Amino acid sequence: MSNKRVDLLVGAQWGDEGKGKVVDILGSNVDVFVRYQGGANAGHTVVVDGQKVVFHLLPSGMLYPGKLCVLGNGLVIDPEQFLSEISGLLENGQDRARLAVSPHAHVVMPYHKMLDKLQEEARGKGRKIGTTGRGIGPCYVDKYSRSGLRVQDLLNADILRDRLIYILEEKNQLFTKLYNQKPLAFDEIYEPARKWGEALKPYVDDTRKLLREAVDKGQHILLEGAQAALLDIDHGTYPYVTSSSTSASGAYTGTGLSPHDLTRVISVVKAYTTRVGEGPFPTEDFGEDGEKLRHNGGEFGATTGRPRRCGWLDFVALKYATELNGADTIALTKLDVLTGMGDIKICVAYELDGNKFETWPTDTGILNDVKPVYETLPGWNEDITNCKNFDELPINAQNYVKYIEQKLNVPVGLIGVGADRNQTINRGI
Ligand code: IMP
Repeated sequence: MSNKRVDLLVGAQWGDEGKGKVVDILGSNVDVFVRYQGGANAGHTVVVDGQKVVFHLLPSGMLYPGKLCVLGNGLVIDPEQFLSEISGLLENGQDRARLAVSPHAHVVMPYHKMLDKLQEEARGKGRKIGTTGRGIGPCYVDKYSRSGLRVQDLLNADILRDRLIYILEEKNQLFTKLYNQKPLAFDEIYEPARKWGEALKPYVDDTRKLLREAVDKGQHILLEGAQAALLDIDHGTYPYVTSSSTSASGAYTGTGLSPHDLTRVISVVKAYTTRVGEGPFPTEDFGEDGEKLRHNGGEFGATTGRPRRCGWLDFVALKYATELNGADTIALTKLDVLTGMGDIKICVAYELDGNKFETWPTDTGILNDVKPVYETLPGWNEDITNCKNFDELPINAQNYVKYIEQKLNVPVGLIGVGADRNQTINRGI
C-alpha cells in the first residue's frame, strides 16, 4: 500500500547517539510512537524549551498530547520505572499521550535486578559487561527459558501466584546455593507484583492489532529503537552487548508488524563515537581529544551517570551498522561538539599484525588489538549552534557531512547542531 508511513529509527553505534532528540523533531508529524525492545536500560533525553526530560522506558513521544504511544511485546518492562515515569509526567503537568502496553511484554522483576548485579560481581574484573544493572539480561534469559512473567500474567492473581511459586523456587536455589544470599519470601514479591498488575491494567491493550490498524489507516508510525546496532545480541560485540535485537530486524519481532510494513529506516549517527560499559572500542581516545569530546558533548550516561568512553568516527563499524540497519537516511547528531577540536580524525580501516582491513571482523575479540587507520579532515572553529541551513555551516563542517554521505552512500537528512529541538538543520528528512 502506497500510503504507509512506518519509520524505524535505530542507532548506528553503541547507543547514546541522541535518538530521543530525533524522535522529538519528527514527532509533530507522527501519530503513533513505539518502543519495541530493551527496557529501562535506555535513556532518551529530550530538551524542550530548555527543560530536560529523560525517558528510560516510555517512548519519547509521550510529550505529545493526543498521540498514541505503544510499548510493544519485545520490551522488558520494569513496572516501578514505568509507574514512576508516568507519575513524573503528571507532576510536571505535561499533558500526555495515550499509552498502550502489550500484554506479551515481559516484566522485569526485582530478582532480575538483583541477579544482574550478582552476575556482574561474579564475572569479576576483565569479564564484566558493565550492564546498567536494570535487570535486562536476566529478564530476557527468563523469557527465552520460558520462566518469565508477562504483563498479562500480572493481571490475573491466580496465574501470577501459580507461576511465581514455581519461578521463586528456582530463583531461590540460585540465590542461596550459587550466590550465598537469603531466599526471597513469596509475599515480598507477590504482593507488589499484584499491585503493579492493577496499576498497569488500564494501559494493557492488543498493541499488535492497534499497530496493524494504524498502518492500514495510513497513520504515521515511528518505531523508536533503543541502544544501537553494535550492542545487538546477535550482531554486536558479543558478549559485550545488551540482550535484545537492537538493529533494524528487532522492530518486527518486537511489535508483530511485518517486514513489508516498514517504509523507511533512519539511522542515527553521532558525529563522533561513544561507548558506555565494557567491550572493544577501536577508536577510543584516552588523551586530550577524548576528554574534550566527553566534556563538550556532556558524555555522561543518561541511565547510570557513568562517564562515556569517547573517540573519533569509525567507518569500519559504521559501514557494518549501516548494512545491518539498511539505512535510507542518516540523522547526524551533535555536530557542534566537533567545533574547536582542530583536525578531525576519521577511522577508515583497522590494522592488525601489519594487515590492513576495512570490513568488520566476525571475531570481534580482535577489535581489542586492532589499530585504527586514520584519515584527517580539517576542522572548524565557528559556532554552528545557530545554523539553520546546510549552507550556513562552515565549509569544513559541510565537507565532513559530505564525507559521511559519500563513505556510507546514504544521504544525511538531518543534522543536530545543539541540544534543543530547534537547533537542527533539516535537509528534508
Ligand atoms: P544492559 O543492557 O544493562 O544489560 O547492559 C549491556 C551493555 O549495554 C552495557 O555495556 C551497557 O552500558 C550498554 N547499554 C545498555 N543500554 C544502553 C544505552 O541506552 N546506551 C548505551 N549503552 C547501553
